Amino acid sequence: MKSTPPANLTWLNLPNLPWPLKALFAGYLLVIGVGLCMAGLQIMLTHGMADGKLGLSKNDIVYSYYGDKNNSKLASKLNGSMIDKAPLAARQDIIKWAVEGAPEEKWESHYKGVFAQHCIMCHSQIPGIPDFTKFEEVKKVAATNQGATISGLTRVSHIHLFGISFIFFFIGLIFSFAVNVPKTLKIVAIVFPFAFLIIDVLSWWLTKLSPNFAWLTIIGGIGYSLASTYMWCVSMYQMFILSRNGKVYGNAWEQDL
Ligand code: HEC
Repeated sequence: MKSTPPANLTWLNLPNLPWPLKALFAGYLLVIGVGLCMAGLQIMLTHGMADGKLGLSKNDIVYSYYGDKNNSKLASKLNGSMIDKAPLAARQDIIKWAVEGAPEEKWESHYKGVFAQHCIMCHSQIPGIPDFTKFEEVKKVAATNQGATISGLTRVSHIHLFGISFIFFFIGLIFSFAVNVPKTLKIVAIVFPFAFLIIDVLSWWLTKLSPNFAWLTIIGGIGYSLASTYMWCVSMYQMFILSRNGKVYGNAWEQDL
């Protein structure tokens, strides 16, 4: 440790900061703390319910990003009460099209004929069941959960990266004034949230491609929550509890040189 003459910013550390600065830091940390809890709650209520069960699981992440491409009303009926209406090959062909998101390009050229051959004698005659001479009505029963869209992911990714890195920047900056924290631990705690943020956002894109990456999203989220909670608690503790012993801790930044 370097010798710190009294005049050399010996108050520059979390316990000894002047009150106005503590008020600023604490105000920011409190709002961010509430904000992070709200974010957690929101994740539980939106993504958490994606598989119909409360609580966040790997399946929720798969449903939210990858989707559930095998499940449409069309597919389940073709394996259920409509199973006898067309031969296996035709039913598989229709299901394959639904899994791809029932693209309209293939309707006129191919699927319109398939439905005409097997389905429309009822599904255009019997009132109250969908009319399969119309693409829109087929599209409705063929709807699957295609997961996140590229444009949706791009939007959420950049908002997330810009917005959250600001939060981590300020939490890290405040924490950098902590005392009694080994320099390496400080560096790790400050870098972790950024690294996990990248992992988190990257994992959404990877999960869109393959459901196997869903666990990365969970690791990313847990990683940066833990790292920022740690910095949050240490900072608050040092500003308001450790400071009560009246000790002068010296220039925290200089100690980390
Ligand atoms: C013999 C008449 C008949 C034929 C042929 C038929 N369906 Fe149906 N379909 C029905 C009836 C009746 C219902 C409503 C009862 C039910 O859901 O099982 C129905 C319901 C459905 C539903 C659910 C619609 C909804 O919104 O609830 C789907 C999807 C469906 N059929 C698909 C098909 C497909 C695809 C074919 C062709 C491979 C087909 N059906 C052939 C009579 C038929």
